[in-house]
Amino acid sequence: MMDPNTPSFMLPPQASTLAPSYDLLYLSITYLCIFCFVLIMGAMTYFVYKYRYRGGEHKAVEITHNTTLEIAWSVIPLFVVIGLFVWGFRLYLDMAIAPRDAMEVRVTGQKWVWNFEYDNGATSSKEFAVPIGKPVKLVMTSRDVLHSFYVPSFRNKMDVVPNRYTTLWFQATQLGDQQVFCAEYCGLDHSGMLAQVHVLSEPAFEKWVKDHSEDKNAAPHERGKKIFNGKGGCMACHAVKSEAEQPQPVIGPRLYQAFGRTEKFTDGTTGVVTENYIRESIEMPNAKTVAGFAAGAMPTFKGVLNDQEIGDLIAYIKTLK
Ligand code: CUA
Repeated sequence: MMDPNTPSFMLPPQASTLAPSYDLLYLSITYLCIFCFVLIMGAMTYFVYKYRYRGGEHKAVEITHNTTLEIAWSVIPLFVVIGLFVWGFRLYLDMAIAPRDAMEVRVTGQKWVWNFEYDNGATSSKEFAVPIGKPVKLVMTSRDVLHSFYVPSFRNKMDVVPNRYTTLWFQATQLGDQQVFCAEYCGLDHSGMLAQVHVLSEPAFEKWVKDHSEDKNAAPHERGKKIFNGKGGCMACHAVKSEAEQPQPVIGPRLYQAFGRTEKFTDGTTGVVTENYIRESIEMPNAKTVAGFAAGAMPTFKGVLNDQEIGDLIAYIKTLK
C-alpha cells in the first residue's frame, strides 16, 4: 500500500476513508482501458503488416459471420461493463449518503470566498476545522452564482448552487491541512477562491471551534472584526492595512483609513465614506462603484447580515487607521 501522504504518479494524496476505494476503481478502469487499447492496436498493426499487399492478383475469401466469435465479443464486454457499473454505483452510494452520526457544517460560497458555520454558531472564512476520524457532512449553498466545492485529497467535489442545498461528506484520515478549490468558473477571482481544511485531533478541534465562536460580550468593533474575517468573508476582497503592510487583496477598495475618506466613483461623482455610505455599500453594493474597481464584483449582504452585525462592521472599519 502506498503512503497516503505521498501523491502517486497520477493521483493526489489519500486523506479520506473513501479515497483508497475511489482510486482502486479509477486505476482499474484506466488500466483496463490501456490493456484493451494495446490489445486492439497491437492486433491491428500486426494484421496490417501480415496481410499487406505484396504484388500480384488475389481474391479475398469472404467470411460473412462467425456466431461463436460474435457472441463472445458481445457477452464478455457486457459482463465487464455491468461489473464496472455495479462497482461504481456502490461507491457512488457510499460517497453520496453521509452516515447518520455525521457532524454538520454549513458552507456558503460567494464571489470569491468560502464561509463556514458550525452548530454552536462558530464561523470562519477561507478555512475550517474538522476532527480526524469523524464523518463530517457539509450542507452547502451559494449566495450568488454557481461554485463547486472540491477537495482533491478527499476525492470529493460537489456543485454549490444558489437557492438550494447540496451536500457532501468525508471522514478525514490524515492530520494536517488539505486544500479546497472552487472547481466551477465563477468570475474574476475564481482561481483565488481557495480554503484550507484543518484536520485536527478532537481536543484541538474543540479549541478551534471555541476560538471561532462569537463572544456576545465583546466590544462592537471586536465583534465586527470577527464578522469581517468570518461570516462576512469581507477580508477576501478588502485589505485592512496600508499597501506596504498588506499588498493583497485588491479586489475591493482598501479599507485602511477609509472612514471619512472622499471616494471618486465610476460615474464621476464623489462621496465621503460615512456610516450611511458603508451601510449602503454592504446592502446595495452596486449603488456606487469606486473608480478603478469592477462594477458588480460584490454581492449584496442584505438579509445576510442583520442591523447589529452591520453596525459592528462599521465600528470595526472605523478602527482601521
Ligand atoms: Cu467560485 Cu469558481
